[in-house]
Amino acid sequence: MSGISPSAAALYSRVEKVIPAIEWPAFTDDIDAILQLKRERNAVILAHNYQTPEIFHCVADIVGDSLALARKAMDVEADVIVLAGVHFMAETAKLLSPGKTVLIPDMGAGCSLADSITPEDVRLMRQRHPGVPIVTYVNTSAAVKAESDICCTSGNAKAVVESLGVPRVIMLPDEYLARNIAAQTDVEIIAWKGHCEVHERFTPEDIRELRAAHPGVTVLAHPECPPEVVAEADFAGSTAAMSDYVGTEKPARVVLMTECSMSDNVAVDHPDVEFIRPCNLCPHMKRITLGNIRTALEQMHHQVTIEPELSARARLAVERMLAV
Ligand code: 13P
Ligand code: SF4
Repeated sequence: MSGISPSAAALYSRVEKVIPAIEWPAFTDDIDAILQLKRERNAVILAHNYQTPEIFHCVADIVGDSLALARKAMDVEADVIVLAGVHFMAETAKLLSPGKTVLIPDMGAGCSLADSITPEDVRLMRQRHPGVPIVTYVNTSAAVKAESDICCTSGNAKAVVESLGVPRVIMLPDEYLARNIAAQTDVEIIAWKGHCEVHERFTPEDIRELRAAHPGVTVLAHPECPPEVVAEADFAGSTAAMSDYVGTEKPARVVLMTECSMSDNVAVDHPDVEFIRPCNLCPHMKRITLGNIRTALEQMHHQVTIEPELSARARLAVERMLAV
């Protein structure tokens, strides 16, 4: 590729199945600059599975689901963490690596679940259900985590709920995740009314139509989908669990009922699997671009800070989860 640095040209071979050649030159300047800035700043980039392939496969150092990113944030040795994901993920990284500078390229990268609940709501739930432990999804603010007993992710929610050894728990704020976990355990779950704006849009009819149009397709769903959608799917799990399923089961045709970039990112490693691609975009995840990752590293912004007293309580809830 003329006019493109050798490092960027080598990277293209990794993503050529999911990024058209005509689009690639638009990315190469930023990729080269980011690779250089990471060395100068002693920085690493943690990227969620929903980041676009030019971020996920070309500049990220650590990739994964929310649980993996939280675990790996603790072990980072670099001075700076750039979180290519949404704000709650950057806060979680800061909670677990308080001595590091944690940057998020766009402060507006939020989450409809995090926006669905306030610390006051959590306190009211505690008053309404005295003595019932509160399990809070990591897709929440640090202030909400600080009011909780323990956190969970979609990858460990059942294990966290059952680890408490009680007959009833409150699980906030994703109603569908709570109902999907309730279907797998004897523990009674009191839910909240938050929804993911991306996964709530999938319907059981979508899956029936997909099966009719693509015979033999294997359907994987994220547990933030409504329970009726999960019931129609062949498997439900976190973004990492869906990716692992494709790697181990090697379905001939698969559809991932989740955010659009997931299929691109998984398809790179599985050229023999046919990906059917109805998907929904997360507008929050899509606020992160190569351009604003570059600017974040150039200007060392936007730094994630958490008030110390709140941070200590929120960290406890996350650390309890990681100990399960
Ligand atoms: P995972 O923990 O499965 O990666 O999910 C995070 C998320 O935001 C899904 O919408
Ligand atoms: Fe939040 Fe849904 Fe986007 Fe995940 S996909 S960050 S849960 S809005």
